[in-house]
Amino acid sequence: VDYLVFVNKTHKLPDDYEAKLPLITVKNSFGKEFQIEPETYRHFEQLRTALKQKGIQVELDSVYRSVARQKEIVAEFTHKYGADYVKQYVAVPGYSEHHSGLAVDICLVVDGKIIDDNDEMIAQKEIFAQIHPLLADYGFILRYPPGKENLTGYSYEPCEFRYVGQETAKKISGAGLVMEEYMK
Ligand code: DAL
Repeated sequence: VDYLVFVNKTHKLPDDYEAKLPLITVKNSFGKEFQIEPETYRHFEQLRTALKQKGIQVELDSVYRSVARQKEIVAEFTHKYGADYVKQYVAVPGYSEHHSGLAVDICLVVDGKIIDDNDEMIAQKEIFAQIHPLLADYGFILRYPPGKENLTGYSYEPCEFRYVGQETAKKISGAGLVMEEYMK
């Protein structure tokens, strides 16, 4: 697996990538099934355990997505939120990092309530202020941070993490970069 595979609005997932991608099927605490790259999952579980010890519950919300699934999401979100929202938050099928198996969207569980709406997550500032500094220790970066919209092409998503491995994650987040700057 190329843990540094670079996918964004102008970089399509390489055509031969998915055929070589190992995926395992896992479940979140609600029994919902996901496919995910194994090392990404192993590190996510370690992060989840570390957060649990701080009293924070995070769960998988969206991980590997096929091109066909991304097409469905674009259609669903266009219907629900409109084309402008989709441009800000949802990748064109073929250009989503979720096809790589290395992107992880989480949801929060706060007082028994699932929070998976982006605006509601942005409002949970104190919780994400505890989550984000831990990401690099487990090999993740915050993929679409605030203030970097002109580089990533997407609005702030506090819940979207990307597995790159611990060494690279520390380099990227330690220098305050995003993938677009690091991969230059
Ligand atoms: N939310 C990210 C941009 C995606 O759809 O891949």
